[in-house]
Amino acid sequence: MGTPHIEARQGDFAELVLLPGDPLRAKHIASTFLDAVQPVTAVRNMLGYTGSWRGTPVSVMGTGMGIPSASIYATELVRHYGVRRLVRVGTCGAVHDDIALGDLILAMGACTDSGVNRQRFNGMDFAAIASFDLLQPVAAQARRTSTPLRIGNVFSTDLFYGPDPALPRRLSAMSILGIDMEAAGLYGVAAEHGVQALTVLTVTDHLLRDEHASASARTTGVDAMTRLVLDALVAAD
Ligand code: HPA
Repeated sequence: MGTPHIEARQGDFAELVLLPGDPLRAKHIASTFLDAVQPVTAVRNMLGYTGSWRGTPVSVMGTGMGIPSASIYATELVRHYGVRRLVRVGTCGAVHDDIALGDLILAMGACTDSGVNRQRFNGMDFAAIASFDLLQPVAAQARRTSTPLRIGNVFSTDLFYGPDPALPRRLSAMSILGIDMEAAGLYGVAAEHGVQALTVLTVTDHLLRDEHASASARTTGVDAMTRLVLDALVAAD
């Protein structure tokens, strides 16, 4: 028996799941990096796969865009499939002068304009943070491989097309590094269930400079980030 949004059988997912937003990116990651890949779910074309990386089982599944969609998949993966480590591998728009297209951002914390974590937390402000046990080895692997990496706060917005053109500058003034649409929700789901989560982002847009990566540069960035995450987290087991 599956869940309303995932048709896999129990045991079909590894305890570590990589979560790109785009289901076709999940397919690409599975076929590029994992051995013995099996498709495990495709409800609404939200593709999920399980395979292995250097002999260790790893799954990868799309989340769709935005906190509501990502929260559905993350919650069902944890509650029904026993997933314990959720690692978003996504893209973001940088809001910091010092960051270039193609750099990596590790979301140590995630602010948001979404109400989901307040709903979870009785209207109080919840500090949505990454799991240190995931963040530390990814940061160490980036250092070992001289990968440009920034570690800090991101902002998960509900509105890709928001009403406030001054938002990127406002975020920058609070030392926020970039904008995505899922990290704060993923961290809320993980906290609610006592599991680990991390968001790693490749910079595909620069919102202060109106720069945008090409499709091939996006793929290169996501691939480099995925390899870094697998090397860091699977080797650390
Ligand atoms: N905004 C929100 N999410 C994003 C962006 C952006 O500019 N670029 C990539 N993901």
